[in-house]
Amino acid sequence: MALMQIEHGSVEYQQMVKLRDEVLRKPLGLHFTDDQLAAEATDILIGAFDDGRILGCCILTPLDKDTVKLRQMAVNNRQQQKGIGYSIMQFAENLARDKGYRKVTMSARDTAIGFYQKMGYKVVGEPFIEVTIPHHSMEKLIR
Ligand SMILES: CC(C)(COP(=O)(O)OP(=O)(O)OC[C@H]1O[C@@H](n2cnc3c(N)ncnc32)[C@H](O)[C@@H]1OP(=O)(O)O)[C@@H](O)C(=O)NCCC(=O)NCCS
Repeated sequence: MALMQIEHGSVEYQQMVKLRDEVLRKPLGLHFTDDQLAAEATDILIGAFDDGRILGCCILTPLDKDTVKLRQMAVNNRQQQKGIGYSIMQFAENLARDKGYRKVTMSARDTAIGFYQKMGYKVVGEPFIEVTIPHHSMEKLIR
């Protein structure tokens, strides 16, 4: 498996959007808008690939000089529970650290909180609804 940064608009980016649509949006009856995707041009885009096929992905959106927001964490439905998500998180945190960030925050789906807790993330604040489902904010200091 190869973990890499993806260029916005590339063939790899198209694969990433398709995967995110399948795993994160279609099950909720939602779709990405052109504006949402265009706004990702300034994000740090990350993908895990095997033989040119995307297995999983995530996005880091810089919020300020110290903090990135982890978004769009998704692993192919048929490849989950094999350690791919863990590897993507490790890669993303290392990349964020290399770029000088100190903190990762996120809006975590309640169904994924246990996954992020295993990576050392802590729940902060009150529950809220996003993309129609329950979420909590989570965060971790990475240096
Ligand atoms: C959540 C998700 C990214 C995890 O990726 P994954 O590749 O399946 O996870 P891994 O196999 O790397 O799991 C690492 C550890 O977390 C655990 N884990 C994985 N998903 C979990 C979950 N939803 N809840 C609790 N623990 C979870 C695994 O059992 C494993 O534990 P172990 O180290 O004790 O064996 C993936 O299942 C996914 O894409 N789910 C659907 C989309 C989603 O919910 N994304 C997150 C949006 S906030």
